[in-house]
Amino acid sequence: MKKIKTAIFISGRGSNMNSLIETCKNKMFPASIDLILTNNDKADGLLLTNTNNIKSYFFDKNKFEILAQKILLEKNIELICLAGFMQILSKNFIQNWEKRIINIHPSYLPHFKGLKAQKQAINAKAGYSGCTVHHVNAEIDGGEIILQKKIHLNENEDIESLTKKILKEEHILYPKALEITVNKILNNII
Ligand code: GRF
Repeated sequence: MKKIKTAIFISGRGSNMNSLIETCKNKMFPASIDLILTNNDKADGLLLTNTNNIKSYFFDKNKFEILAQKILLEKNIELICLAGFMQILSKNFIQNWEKRIINIHPSYLPHFKGLKAQKQAINAKAGYSGCTVHHVNAEIDGGEIILQKKIHLNENEDIESLTKKILKEEHILYPKALEITVNKILNNII
C-alpha cells in the first residue's frame, strides 16, 4: 500500500505529534511519519521520537528552513504537519510546499487567529471556540480549512479548562484531517 511520507515539525510537548505517530502505526493508514524536525533542542516531544524509532533533527531557528529543505528532499517527504511549531515559515518555503503543509490551531477559525487562542476566546467571553486543521499559506492561520470542531465554553470556563478540552479534541481531529489530506494527494486532487 502506497503511504504518503510525512514529516512533523514541533517546538514543544508533541502531544499532537504523538497522536499522528500512533495513527500512522495502523498498516491501513495511508501515511507514514518518517521524520521529525524541531527548532527547539529541549522540546519534550523529542523523547517520543526515540521510543518510536523515528529520525529527528534539531535545527537552529536561523538555519531551520535551509537545513529542513535539504533533509525533506533527501528523505522524499511529501507532506509536512506542523504540530505546535513556533516559527513563522517564510513565503518562499511555503511556496515550495504549496498545499503540502498543514497545521493545527486551537480555535474555531477564522476566530482567534495567532497566539494564545484559548485566552482570546475566554477574554472575548465567546460561546464557543474549538480547533481547526488547515493548509498553511502566507497569511497566519488563514489557509484553507480542512476540518474543524466546535467546542462550547461553559459559564465558568477558564484558560486551563478550555485548553484541556480543546487539546483532547485536537488529538482526534488531526489524524482525521491528515487522512483527508493524504487521500487527496493520492487521488491527485491536490
Ligand atoms: C496545540 O494546542 C496546537 O493547536 C497549537 O500548539 C499546541 C501544541 O501542543 N498549535 P502539542 O505540542 O501538540 O502538545
